[in-house]
Amino acid sequence: MYGRLYMLVSVLILLAPVSLAVNYTYFKTVDLTYIPSAVKNGAVCLDGSPPAYHIDRGVGDGARNWLVFIEGGGWCDTTENCLNRTKNIFGLGSSKIMQAKNFTGLLSDNQQLNPYFYNWNRVFVRYCDGGSFTGNSFDPVNKLHYKGSKVFSAIVKDLLGKGMSNATNALISGCSAGGLSAILNCDKFRSFLPPHTNVKCASDAGYFLHVKDVFGEYNYANFYDRIVKLHGSTKNLPKACTSSMRPRSLCFYPQYVVPHVETPLFLINSAYDAYQIGFILAPSINNLPQTWERCKNDTTTCSPDQIEILKGFRSEFLSALPRLGNGSFRGMFISSCLAHCQSQLQLNWNWDPGFRIEDKTMAEALGSWSTGRSSLQIIAGSELPKICLTTPL
Ligand SMILES: *[C@@H]1O[C@H](CO)[C@@H](O)[C@H](O)[C@H]1NC(C)=O
Ligand SMILES: *[C@@H]1O[C@H](CO)[C@@H](O)[C@H](O)[C@H]1NC(C)=O
Ligand SMILES: *[C@@H]1O[C@H](CO)[C@@H](O)[C@H](O)[C@H]1NC(C)=O
Ligand SMILES: *[C@@H]1O[C@H](CO)[C@@H](O)[C@H](O)[C@H]1NC(C)=O
Ligand SMILES: *[C@@H]1O[C@H](CO)[C@@H](O)[C@H](O)[C@H]1NC(C)=O
Ligand SMILES: *[C@@H]1O[C@H](CO)[C@@H](O)[C@H](O)[C@H]1NC(C)=O
Repeated sequence: MYGRLYMLVSVLILLAPVSLAVNYTYFKTVDLTYIPSAVKNGAVCLDGSPPAYHIDRGVGDGARNWLVFIEGGGWCDTTENCLNRTKNIFGLGSSKIMQAKNFTGLLSDNQQLNPYFYNWNRVFVRYCDGGSFTGNSFDPVNKLHYKGSKVFSAIVKDLLGKGMSNATNALISGCSAGGLSAILNCDKFRSFLPPHTNVKCASDAGYFLHVKDVFGEYNYANFYDRIVKLHGSTKNLPKACTSSMRPRSLCFYPQYVVPHVETPLFLINSAYDAYQIGFILAPSINNLPQTWERCKNDTTTCSPDQIEILKGFRSEFLSALPRLGNGSFRGMFISSCLAHCQSQLQLNWNWDPGFRIEDKTMAEALGSWSTGRSSLQIIAGSELPKICLTTPL
């Protein structure tokens, strides 16, 4: 009895100073690496500039492990929007405008903040094609290059030459439009790596749902249809889906593609994804009623009817999730947090208790699944949308 108490006390004493010393505002700034040689193969950003990424090399027993994380940032669906995107201040259409990147969350090199991936080779892939790395077309009049599919191949090949061809583990992920990229290009990534490599895919906030909006229409599916047509993406979407799905552009939706994905895949997503609520379920078009504008912004103001619609969205989301299958085939960490893109945020990734589900952080969930052999399903029971952040910033 006293022995156990003594042990408990010493464990607490040992842990306390360590956890207090964790600096969750820590980051590491990583420079850009360009791939000028990709230009001659037509693998270019929207404006014709070379593709780019950031790399922080792995060390020790992580030196042969690779995490490739794809940036998000929406899509462009018209010539005008894509032309505008070439001038985007974050470089979403041009590597001429890109800047260095702060690595945090799952990209951090700090063991306490990122216990599973801190010593892996960590790559942040810049998103500059506007079509989730699926396009292969060119507009000579406006000089717009829709070459996402070629950019993806060029970046992966460049990384293979930097040691990824000897990888023990290789995990591709991304957030939002980058999370969708990771799903749509998951088997393609697998095909570039040698058979001995343990290849897996993950998607953070990339599981966009094909669902009717509050107008009773599929406005978002029409948006996806315009993206797929403009970028010439159909040929580069997973063939197992496009061979049967009509219209083929529905194969831009994870729920129709994932049943055909042969590589293990992990989903981090909220069933109340803040972006999906705001842009897919209740988009600010056609004079969206002010009551919805308010409810979207602050769910405590939603009426009982609106809460029912939100809950309906969550149920549709949960029923569109993939089946687990055998081995480590599938994994998921599904919260009810009003959030979008969480794995790069230190507080969400492995710090704030508000983001734990079943007492696991998303770092522990994805980390253990990515090198493990079993599937994993963690779904928050809470039926209402939640504000999860509890640590004051
Ligand atoms: C925490 O990390 C930030 C960013 O790297 C740094 O500026 C700051 O000095 C660190 N604080 C402590 C107490 O180490
Ligand atoms: C162009 O992009 C800026 C933000 O980058 C936006 O404010 C503006 O409305 C866009 N214009 C068009 C025509 O899409
Ligand atoms: C990295 O974060 C620091 C502190 O928030 C900020 O001052 C700096 O501009 C950031 N750098 C980049 C490249 O985003
Ligand atoms: C892969 O490993 C072999 C043997 O250690 C080495 O010769 C080769 O250069 C490595 N390849 C890359 C791309 O690092
Ligand atoms: C959104 O909600 C916040 C508080 O939650 C409030 O301060 C802000 O005015 C609201 N914005 C709109 C456009 O309603
Ligand atoms: C699981 O494995 C068994 C035996 O290998 C196979 O028959 C079955 O189809 C697999 N189930 C799934 C869902 O993949």
